[in-house]
Formats: sequence, C-alpha cells, structure tokens
Amino acid sequence: MDKRKIIGSLFMGFAFFSVAVNAQQPLYKNATLPVEERVNDLLGRMTLEEKILQLNQYTLGRNNNENNLGEAIKQIPAGIGSLIYFDETPELRNAMQKRAMEETRLGIPLIFGYDVIHGFRTVYPISLAQACSWSTSLVEDACATAAMEARKSGVDWTFSPMIDVARDGRWGRISEGYGEDPYTNAAFCVASVNGYQGDDLKSSDRVAACLKHYVGYGASEAGMDYVYTEISNQTLWDTYLPPYEAGIKAGAQTVMSSFNDISGTPGSGNHYTMTEILKNRWKHDGFVVSDWSAVPQLIAQGAAADSKDAARVAFNAGLEMDMMGRCYDKHLETLVKEGTVSMERIDDAVRRILRVKFRLGLFENPYTPVAKPEERFLLPQSKAVAERLAEECIVLLKNEGGILPLQPEGASTTTIAVMGPLLDAEKELLGNWNGHGRAEDVYPIKKALQEEFAGRANLLFHAGCPFDGDDESQFASALEVARQADVLLLFMGERHNWSGENCVRSTIELPDVQSAFIAEMKKAGKPIVLILANGRPLALSNVEPLCDAIVEMWQPGVPGGKPVAGVLSGRVNPSGKLSVTFPRATGQIPIYYNRRKSARPESGKYQDIPSTPLYEFGYGLSYTHFAYGDLSLSKSSVSAGEKLVAQISVTNVGKCDGAETVHWFISDPACRITRPNKELKHFEKQPIKAGETKIFRFEIDPMRDLSFVDADGQHFLEPGEYYVMVGGQKVKLEIHE
Ligand code: NOJ
Repeated sequence: MDKRKIIGSLFMGFAFFSVAVNAQQPLYKNATLPVEERVNDLLGRMTLEEKILQLNQYTLGRNNNENNLGEAIKQIPAGIGSLIYFDETPELRNAMQKRAMEETRLGIPLIFGYDVIHGFRTVYPISLAQACSWSTSLVEDACATAAMEARKSGVDWTFSPMIDVARDGRWGRISEGYGEDPYTNAAFCVASVNGYQGDDLKSSDRVAACLKHYVGYGASEAGMDYVYTEISNQTLWDTYLPPYEAGIKAGAQTVMSSFNDISGTPGSGNHYTMTEILKNRWKHDGFVVSDWSAVPQLIAQGAAADSKDAARVAFNAGLEMDMMGRCYDKHLETLVKEGTVSMERIDDAVRRILRVKFRLGLFENPYTPVAKPEERFLLPQSKAVAERLAEECIVLLKNEGGILPLQPEGASTTTIAVMGPLLDAEKELLGNWNGHGRAEDVYPIKKALQEEFAGRANLLFHAGCPFDGDDESQFASALEVARQADVLLLFMGERHNWSGENCVRSTIELPDVQSAFIAEMKKAGKPIVLILANGRPLALSNVEPLCDAIVEMWQPGVPGGKPVAGVLSGRVNPSGKLSVTFPRATGQIPIYYNRRKSARPESGKYQDIPSTPLYEFGYGLSYTHFAYGDLSLSKSSVSAGEKLVAQISVTNVGKCDGAETVHWFISDPACRITRPNKELKHFEKQPIKAGETKIFRFEIDPMRDLSFVDADGQHFLEPGEYYVMVGGQKVKLEIHE
C-alpha cells in the first residue's frame, strides 16, 4: 500500500482530536487562560536547548517521494520551531506534528509556513495586477480563499503579503508587490492581512500573515536581486516603511527580514529597523523570520565574519527565526555561554514565537483535519473571486477609434485571427510564485475565445512566434492567416519565470522576436489588438504605434483567458488602472509618479525621447466615459485638529455601465523637507451605470493626510498651503495655526 495512504489512514483517527485539558495539567495547556500567562508558564519550563530549537526553521516535503518520506521526517529534530511545508496534503504535516507533540518533553507544536503569494491552488492574478483592480475588498476575499486552502492543507502561516515599494521594472520581484506607491502598498497590505488572518487566527480557514521583505528590498540597485540598496533614512520613512506600519497596525503576526543591504546595514542584521522601529516604536509583539539563508548571507555581505558571528549579529539585531540558515541551531548556545547573546534576548525571541503559536490555536488543534482536495481546492466561490479579480485587474491601455469591444455582427462575416506565444501556454498565465497551481487548472485562452465568440465570429488560431529567440519560421504562414482576418488578436508578453525571485531583465521591452512579429503582422493591413500577459511594467514605445488597441491582462492565474475574452467581446467593461508606471524605454528607470521635484522642471530632459512615461500610474481606459464635476472642500481653511471632506461627482456619460476609480492626491508646494508634486492619500472604486452619477468623498484628517515624516520618522504638520487634487483639478486648502 502506498505510504501516503498509510499515513493518511493513521491520521484520520486523530484529525479532529483536540488536546485534552484538565486541572492537573500545566498552565500552558489550559486554553482558557490568557495567551501571555500560557507563554510565561511554558517559557519557565523550557531548557536553553529547547528554546533555541524554537528559533529555527527547516523545510519539509520537497523531494519527499513516497520512498523517503519517513527518512526525511526523522532527520528533523522533533522540537524544531517551524518548517516550510512544501506538500499540499495534511498527512505529512500531521506525521511531523505528531513527533513534536508526542516525542518532545513539552509537546510544543510546530508552525508550518509556505509561500502562499497569490493563491494556494486557486491561483489569483499576480499582486502587481491585483493592485490595478483598486478593489481592496476583492483582494481581501482572494487572500481569505488562499488562507482557507492553505490552512486546510496543513499550512498555518503564509510568507505574504510582499509590500516592497518597487520602481524598477527590471527587478523581477516587482510582480510580487503592489507597485510603486507607498499608500497603495499600505492599502492592499491591510486588505491582504485582513483576508489571511480574519478576526480569529484559531479558525480552521485562516493563516498568520508575514510582511516582507523588511525593508527596502525594492530599491535593489540596477534592478538586480539580492544586492545593495542605497536608502537614506528620509526615504526609508517616506517610501519604504509606511506599508509595514500599516500592516503591523492591521495585526500582521510576523515580518520577514530582507536580503538587501540598507546603506551599509543589511536588513537581516539591522537593529534600527527590526528592533528600534518594529518592536520599540510600533510595539510589534510577533516575530521576525529571516529570508531564506539571509543569516549566513551576512557573511557574503561583509556584515559578519563567520556563521557564529552572523548568528550573533542577526539575533541581537532583532531577528527571531533563522529560515534555513542553520546558524542559530549551531551557535546560539555557545553565544549565550560566551555572554554575547543574553538570556533575556533568547526569552524575548521564544516568547514572540510561542505567542503566535498560541494565537493560532496550535496547542489545542495541532493537527490538520484530512479533507479531500475537492473539499478545499478550486471551489466554485473561490474560482468566482479569481475571475472577478482578474476582470477588474485588466487595464485597457489603448483603444484607437473604439476598435474594442469587438462586438462582431453576423457570425459568418467576421473573422478573427488569434496569434502569439501565449496561446497554448497555460502555465505562463499562472505567473511566478504560483503555489500549488497547475497548468491544467487554467482556463485556456483558445477555449475562452471560442465560447465567448461562439456563433458570432470565425476564429483562426496560429501561434506565429515564440516568446524569445530568433525563430521567425512561422511568420510567413501567420501573415497568410492575418490576411484572411478582419482583426488580429496578438497574445504576447512574458513567461511566468521571467519575473519573481532571481528573475532580472536588463530591458523591459518586448523581446525582439515578438516586436518583429507585430511589425510583420502589420503588413496584413488589419487592425491589431495586442493583449499582454506579463509580470512587470513593459516599455512599449516601439510596438505601440503598430497597435490599434492594447490590453494589459497581466498574469491572471486560473481564470486564464476568460476575463480577457469578456473584455474583448464587451461582456466586461475594463476598469483597471495602472499601479505602476509604464516607461517609454528601459533607460527611463527609475520612473514613478511621486518623484521629488526638479530644480528646473522644464530642463534636464532626455534628448532622444520624451521624458514622460508612455502610460502613467493610475492610467486606464474604459468603454464608457466618465465626466467629473467640480472638486469641492467642505472647508478651505482648518486647524491641524479639524477634519474636512473633499467631494466630487462622477457621471457615466457613455452608453454602457462601468466602474471608476477616483484617486485622491495631495500636494504641498513648500515644505521644510521637499515633497513630490503629488502623493496618493485615498482611492475609491465604484460601479456607475450608464447615465448615473456617483459621489466620491475623501475625509481628510490633516494629521493623517497632510503631515509628513522626518528622517527619524517623527510626524510634523506645517501650517500653510496645501492642494487636494483629482484628475486635472486642484483646490487649495489652508492649514492655520
Ligand atoms: C526567498 C524569498 O525571497 C522569500 O520571498 C520567500 O518567502 C522565501 N524564499 C521562502 O520561500
């Protein structure tokens, strides 16, 4: 009999078993007591060796084929603090957890973590795309679904959300966060933490969140991975810390330290960020886990002499759990004995980890009930959230002459040629960090189009060109097909592994072969609709003039081609707006909307191209038109403590229903620390039916929305002139003494 099945049946018996409690049992086993009391009691019983084991994380599941399952488990110390869990069924976890519960003196459960980044099995659009939906509620729903699938599969803790503000499209990890703006990252961070954690971490469908990568990883020089970042304290506070502060306030249980060197002090050895800010100022009482091997990597970075030194530096800086670095388990005991690491710090670190384990209810429910895949994965409601989110992420970048929606009339007369490397490439539509997602779960583009246009058009499919390389052998036959069609749909972009960790590109233009293919198809003289799936902003200047319409569908996850098919036919009115600037050329990087002001705004430009982006942050078209009323303020002069309301009406003056996102910006023309031309402070998306008017409001709290931070994170609000801005309008607001 298959070993997995044996383990499965063994654990069916105790899957719903809760640890019994009676009066004789130690306090930490009494679920009715407050968490702090239980933590203190347990800590008081632990030896140094047991404490140190809690501070380590290994892995479980990868390469665990049926023949070596047992061995792999046996190699792991039963009293280890945590494991990264690569399996997608609870059995292996339960087998390991049984060792922790039954073969250790105190029975401290393990916490199992995993990268549930944009879905576990039901894969959602990549995070960069999610932010283009401007729908925090949909993102919260998506994270809640991911949490349910994960927890029911044996995962208690996700290494998500990634909230690294990123302004360099070459950096592959830009796909994993919510774009270039601190406020946007903060808003989606809160939504995501709420979705993962809910109100009760003990619930069988929630997981603990982990804010990463703390901090400034997105500032990686030249877009390369794992490298140096030059971040002044001012920029740290202005740009990189705000999403973390928001996530901590929302209750995120854990934080992951980053790989990058922050102006001379690596994130994983940084006392200022991990202890002074996170714990002392923000009062975070959960724990910091290192990124994978980030502790020993302090040696490569030149911040530690050897692995023992690395353990000392990282641990004393405020990093509680060593992910796969094997420095803490080897050296912490010696460091304590030598007096360079204090027992007080050990106790503080262990206390933080135990706290999270108690909050997750692991002492009472250490095992994951065994449920069939169909009871947890790809449930209709989970797929519905994915589809809705993927629809709302789609950004219509160009629509010359209203070529879209296609609305073909007369089935026999309209012929659509569908081409490009993304046809038959379901895996690519999952994006990077796709958890346990499978290509066969993805709705194929061809199928989606066939269904969408059934009886309304003839579809001619032809791959035409590869993702990259120089194979143009199909160009000629593709041109023949293009000549028979009324309109061309070109599905192009990136493979799923062109973005994500360690996936850096030196240019963000489409690969030459794809650009050449578009130019070749232009020879057919038919309208071209370019549909893009990619994991980063692209520089599209060379192909944009060849295309009548451009649709950014991003990497949508399991809904695959269905949402974009709806956009092409007009069933779905696109409502996404960019969460990241699309430059004209790679050479413009870094380019982002909230750059600090120039001394000579009209000069210092590029000589060879316009210095403006091709598509700016917040840009996105709709099939309808929205007319904005006049922007008004309830008061034009207030004191620092007085609140006011800004308001604007938006009317759908077009023929179809739609949804509009209003972005509320502020600006401060003169400040003791210079500010950007505009800064996002609020956004709201509302559906607006054809002919309908909706009111959008921004409740302004000057202390929250008009104050800034100095280089030490101290907030200040200066009296004087500010502007509230929406679209092309701005109104003055005075803050008086
Ligand atoms: C390295 C990545 O940087 C991080 O994002 C991830 O959570 C860990 N590996 C664990 O897989």
